[in-house]
Amino acid sequence: MVGTRLMMKDWRILQGDVLERLRELPDDSVHCVVTSPPYWRLRNYGVVGQIGVENTPHEYLEKMLSVFREIRRVLRKDGTAWVNIGDCYAGSGCGGGGSYESERRGWQQCVTRRVPHLKRKDLVGMPWRLAFALQADGWWLRQDIVWSKPNPMPLSVTDRCTTSHEYIFLLTKRPKYYFDAAAIRIRAAPSSVQRWQQDIDSQTGSLRANGGAKANGTMKAVGGRPTTECRDKQRGHSRRHAGFNERWDHMTHAEQRAFGANRRSVWEIATQGFSGMHFATFPEEIPRLCIMAGCPEGGTVLDPFSGAGTTGVVALRLGRKYVGIEINPEYVEMSKRRIENDAPLLNKISGD
Ligand SMILES: C[S@@+](CC[C@H](N)C(=O)[O-])C[C@H]1O[C@@H](n2cnc3c(N)ncnc32)[C@H](O)[C@@H]1O
Repeated sequence: MVGTRLMMKDWRILQGDVLERLRELPDDSVHCVVTSPPYWRLRNYGVVGQIGVENTPHEYLEKMLSVFREIRRVLRKDGTAWVNIGDCYAGSGCGGGGSYESERRGWQQCVTRRVPHLKRKDLVGMPWRLAFALQADGWWLRQDIVWSKPNPMPLSVTDRCTTSHEYIFLLTKRPKYYFDAAAIRIRAAPSSVQRWQQDIDSQTGSLRANGGAKANGTMKAVGGRPTTECRDKQRGHSRRHAGFNERWDHMTHAEQRAFGANRRSVWEIATQGFSGMHFATFPEEIPRLCIMAGCPEGGTVLDPFSGAGTTGVVALRLGRKYVGIEINPEYVEMSKRRIENDAPLLNKISGD
């Protein structure tokens, strides 16, 4: 495991209110923030001072803005912040699935109060309200990633579709920042792989110039050779322009295949049950992708709403350091045990 190479002071989880504990962290000390804050009025985490129980979206956003100002202070100039957040409807149990989950597992649940300017059953749009508020507050809103869930919580709604996605926003302090796109590349489409496997040298004319014939369902062959009909003009055109394409041209087919394609902005990731007492954990694949792209090896990852410590577990596995903040002492203890069981050779920072 990569993480076992880390030495002293690999991780710590600070118990307490996020704002208070963030204030104790030094400026520019964190490479990457990966977090899923409490959604507005979805769940009651059973602790005084918890965020998410505010009466209005405005109050919630004000609270979140204060938290994110502190996050911006502790984040390095080239750092990235990845924020996972879902939406809810006005006038109902929030979250489009909250009531089902709450009943099934016996959790206490908040009920959305009337939202100023919104009618009952209006989508609140909280992810975008938060994203725009953070943008207006100075953050660079670099991307909205859609977390698409192939196994969404079943709902009994009949007047709309079942909600099966949430957002992950990529925010930065500067327009230039650390981002390792190659670390999260996806496998190229079969048609691309097929094209790379062509013997381009044996082709002639514009097919050869265009890096091989397009290899998709419409490809036709005359005498064993692709016709100009299936030429991929766009690729031939763009490859003459960007530096990337020049490097691409010098790669072997094997290298091209290995490099794959740039990851798309829709991430299909199944929700992952967690056997511990925390009920709002995100699947490990979410922090894995965010950390691989957004934090250099050996760097420090912060989750200011640490919960069951999923971000910490993944960060340490990937050879990064971890700082978590969590208000609920029971979650803190549980997540410490989880991390210790997952990475017994790593060292906890003492004095937290
Ligand atoms: C959505 S959960 C995070 C789950 C986490 N991503 C995981 O996979 O385990 C949000 C967490 O924020 C915590 N929280 C709520 N208000 C807080 C506050 N004021 N300060 C610190 N933590 C808070 C809750 O107790 C909850 O564990």
